[in-house]
Amino acid sequence: MAEYDKQALIRAALEVRSNAYAPYSGFYVGAALLSESGRIYTGVNVENSSFPVGTCAERSAFAAAISSGERKFVAVCITGEKKDNPMLGAKYCMPCGMCRQFMTEFCDKDFEIISAASEEDYQVNKLGSLMPGAFMLFGAF
Ligand code: THU
Repeated sequence: MAEYDKQALIRAALEVRSNAYAPYSGFYVGAALLSESGRIYTGVNVENSSFPVGTCAERSAFAAAISSGERKFVAVCITGEKKDNPMLGAKYCMPCGMCRQFMTEFCDKDFEIISAASEEDYQVNKLGSLMPGAFMLFGAF
């Protein structure tokens, strides 16, 4: 895998997080996705009165990237914060099961998921280890 600037990706996720729309959970999530073309796409969680309608930050970032014609990706950074109570919610925001499945559509096993608390404090996991044996119609994961 090509080297890339993890801090720049984390910074982008932290910056966009303030735009999250999360009046129901109070859990604000920002995501920044690096495409193979070198561009960074960002997204936030967008909640809804009808709870299941809401979407996660990672999927928002992917939707923006796919809409711009991107199809190949290197890494995503996810960062979450519970505004009213910083002690709640995981320090390192992990992708939910639906997002893991979503990412397997476009990313291979080596795709990196950075769960960041800050630019200096983060965990890196590969998609292959978070989503073993993913379901796919085309090819194998
Ligand atoms: N959420 C994300 O945006 N990304 C994740 O990886 C985990 C969960 C959002 C969904 C919902 O708006 C809020 O966090 C609480 O579950």
